[in-house]
Amino acid sequence: MSNATTSDATTIDRYGVMGYPVSHSRSPLIHKLFALQTEQKLQYELLQVTPENLETAIRQFQRTGGKGLNITVPHKGAVTRLVDQVSERATTAGAVNTLAFQGGRIIGDNTDGIGLLRDLVVNLGLALEGANILILGAGGATRGIIGPLLEMQPSSLCIANRTVDKAEALVEKFSESGPVSASQFSVVPTTEAYDLIINATSAGLKGEAPPYPAAAISATTFCYDLSYGLKPTPFSVWARDNGAARSVMGWGMLVEQAAESFNIWRGVRPDTAPVLRQMSIAA
Ligand code: ATR
Repeated sequence: MSNATTSDATTIDRYGVMGYPVSHSRSPLIHKLFALQTEQKLQYELLQVTPENLETAIRQFQRTGGKGLNITVPHKGAVTRLVDQVSERATTAGAVNTLAFQGGRIIGDNTDGIGLLRDLVVNLGLALEGANILILGAGGATRGIIGPLLEMQPSSLCIANRTVDKAEALVEKFSESGPVSASQFSVVPTTEAYDLIINATSAGLKGEAPPYPAAAISATTFCYDLSYGLKPTPFSVWARDNGAARSVMGWGMLVEQAAESFNIWRGVRPDTAPVLRQMSIAA
């Protein structure tokens, strides 16, 4: 009996999240709650790794028996060149947020897009088919969600960005997948009301409040911030102040993308609702 316990303790499967900075990450808590709920034995570490040390840190984690990693800001793009096999959705997103170490190989996937969809459609009950969608921002976060959103067959998907060239480049990349268009904040088309506005800029993280297009909000518009915090984000305050029907932060996406990663690693998908509640987050 005592031998079994010792062996369990030394062979416990290791996972973790690599980012820079990463100390604020809620992923260890979320995965701990998932492990408790599904009765899986694992440990999940917080790994602060600079961009220069990313490859070394990943290889070392793999060499020392690590089973999987979440990859977060700013490494999601850079890590794509370190994987042996990459999923189609990660290729489309140009970013990897989940690594699985299998038989000496590194498998890369991206669960952000599906995490967002699950939160919007399953948790929040939004109908995206036929919807008019506006995304603010044209960086990595936007690139990761356009493909999954277009699969839901919206009527329109407009990408508005401070630097319009970046929005136009994304439109060019995704134009064959659906009705995408590019715009600047100041001139977003408003002939039809937006059903959903998603903030995918990093402005709030930097404490900046850009001139988001208030004219895009109507009384039926649902606003969703990919960012989240214990206090309302600047975007969610802006959305409320400008009369949005509802304004929600990205806690649900965070928990849902984590559940998809957990499923990739452990072959079991946790129930996300109690975890969202246990984190004391109003979804
Ligand atoms: P991420 O990978 O998180 O998307 P990113 O690739 O650096 O990060 O992109 C950040 C996005 O936030 C960009 O769309 C950026 O706009 P620009 O392309 O014009 O730089 C947007 N962003 C960041 N700070 C902003 C601000 N103060 N006002 C408007 N947009 C901002």
